[in-house]
Amino acid sequence: MKKLEYLTLKEECFNLKNEKMVFGEGNLNAKIVLVGEAPGAKEIEKGKPFVGQAGKYLDEFINILEIKREDIYITNTVKIRPYKFNEKTGRKVNRPPKKEEINEFKPILLKEIELIHPDIVVSLGNYSLKTISGKKNHAIGQVHGSPIKLANCILFPLYHPAAVIYNRNLKDTYYQDLQKLKAVLLQFTE
Ligand code: URA
Repeated sequence: MKKLEYLTLKEECFNLKNEKMVFGEGNLNAKIVLVGEAPGAKEIEKGKPFVGQAGKYLDEFINILEIKREDIYITNTVKIRPYKFNEKTGRKVNRPPKKEEINEFKPILLKEIELIHPDIVVSLGNYSLKTISGKKNHAIGQVHGSPIKLANCILFPLYHPAAVIYNRNLKDTYYQDLQKLKAVLLQFTE
């Protein structure tokens, strides 16, 4: 039954635009939903979220939390790859998603979360945080690592793992936040 609703929602999403997309996937009964920003080139190629370089962050994340990939559901705020052309090379490079792109996919993301009905939604970075909390003034730098109570679940904001790659100073904070998340998860599995 849930599978059918999932497939219907996926179709609704794919009908939004005539562009390649990556829809969420994983355990439809997951207690944890992970929400990233948007797929990159590798994700579009494979049709799966968080593969390639981003998949490595995810594996590390999963190891630290001592959970299994098959136990979680993974998705993105925006389902298309936001890109621009590099002026020098003429090649496609990733760019942050635009407001219109976020707003276009927001209803799909919210329905996805409603369908899975997890205990905890982990947002990775600013875009998923603001989209899910609905609060424009929420900034990841201020709320990371602190659970936010929403109507039907807990939102746990984390920095996007890619941010940690670009800013090594965030590494310790990121690991501390993951330990806090681990403690929150334990409350739901005990
Ligand atoms: N980064 C994201 O936020 N999502 C992906 O699917 C890949 C990289």
